[in-house]
Amino acid sequence: MMLLVTEPDHDELSRIAGLSGLESDLLRGPGITRWLDRRARTLGLDPKSHRAMLMESEAERRILSEQVAVPESWIGRYPVSFDLLHERATAAKSQSGIFRVLSLGCAAGQEPFTAAACILDAGVDVNRIEVVAVDRSQSAIEMGMTGILPSMAVRGELPVCMRKRVEQSGRQWKVADEIRALVRFVEADVVSEPLPIAPGSCDIVFCRNVLIYLESDARDRLCRRASSYLRKDGVLFAGHADPRHDLLQTLTSIGRPGAFAWSRRGEPTTRTPIAVTPPTASRPFPNRTLRRPAPEIAPSEVSIAPSLASSAEVDRIRRIADRGRLPEARELAEGLLVTHPADPAVILILASIESADGRVEAARDHLRRALYLKPDDFSALLQMAVLCESEGELDVAARFRRRLDRLGSDGELEE
Ligand SMILES: C[S@@+](CC[C@H](N)C(=O)[O-])C[C@H]1O[C@@H](n2cnc3c(N)ncnc32)[C@H](O)[C@@H]1O
Repeated sequence: MMLLVTEPDHDELSRIAGLSGLESDLLRGPGITRWLDRRARTLGLDPKSHRAMLMESEAERRILSEQVAVPESWIGRYPVSFDLLHERATAAKSQSGIFRVLSLGCAAGQEPFTAAACILDAGVDVNRIEVVAVDRSQSAIEMGMTGILPSMAVRGELPVCMRKRVEQSGRQWKVADEIRALVRFVEADVVSEPLPIAPGSCDIVFCRNVLIYLESDARDRLCRRASSYLRKDGVLFAGHADPRHDLLQTLTSIGRPGAFAWSRRGEPTTRTPIAVTPPTASRPFPNRTLRRPAPEIAPSEVSIAPSLASSAEVDRIRRIADRGRLPEARELAEGLLVTHPADPAVILILASIESADGRVEAARDHLRRALYLKPDDFSALLQMAVLCESEGELDVAARFRRRLDRLGSDGELEE
């Protein structure tokens, strides 16, 4: 049965996006339009009154935001960041004072629980560990407080520090009480609401995969805010697909490959060695090649009509990348992403650049985002299949290949 949906007025959506601090392109397209229609019907409202409600009600905007910025994460995501956290905690274990971690956009706690376990494993006294985890999703915060995480919270092999601290309970995962007790959950908007953290008091701030959803003012505010919580020698971890351009306004990259680690502007970064820690038995995270295949993420139904970059510009970047000038190509593509954050072509070229540079997780994040924006994008599905095959994740690759097979020769989904 064909469902008739009311196409919302774009200016109105932009205003709602602005009030929510969301990138406005993320509110366009059939998927989110269908959700808005369903939501209005559930509330017994006509679409116009529902949009008026969205303009008025912060709580309703949060529910909308959860459709866009999904509280999805997993234990030990980006292992290299946790290697660096382990080093920092080891160096701090004989000092006095609190070792404080802040996780901004913590989902259901997958990231802060891993951080707590990692610091505990490094030998920091339990009374000196404080982990504050903030998210605006009420359901995610409630889940985190119970310590019962969804099945997708574990993907592949568990990091060493969590192996004895999380156990399967049916389709869910239960985090050990000793870890749960170390994490304080706070439901708040990390861009606009006050947080119970003193400026300059955090050894580590995680701000991963939140900036990607925000409009430019909100990104700017969050970067400034996140860096203001760091101690002078603190480290901020970003996500692999988070916009470097915005981070660079207030922070300096530490230069540790794969860690996406940043320090406060103007602070010396030499304390952290550049070389990647060689894998050893005591290393908190196993070598990536030992991983079991990561399960595929269900594609979102959202597909949007973004503002598109010129194809000539994307082609120029592709040619530069093809000549092997990857840093230059990356910088140009990241610049283009600032003005066209939801253009699949720009996201895909970045994925290709990261892939060519061996930065598999960064490439994977870009491909996920491209598929979130356009679930039936032929090129994104193909790149994802090839990437999974090259990583030995054959089951996952086969699922992407099946999705490709369902696309007609013109790249449209067959009925
Ligand atoms: C994709 S998840 C990332 C989780 C985790 N940081 C990671 O990288 O695995 C994004 C999270 O950010 C949260 N989020 C997005 N915008 C936010 C805001 N303005 N304030 C607080 N949380 C926000 C979402 O609710 C979601 O849980």
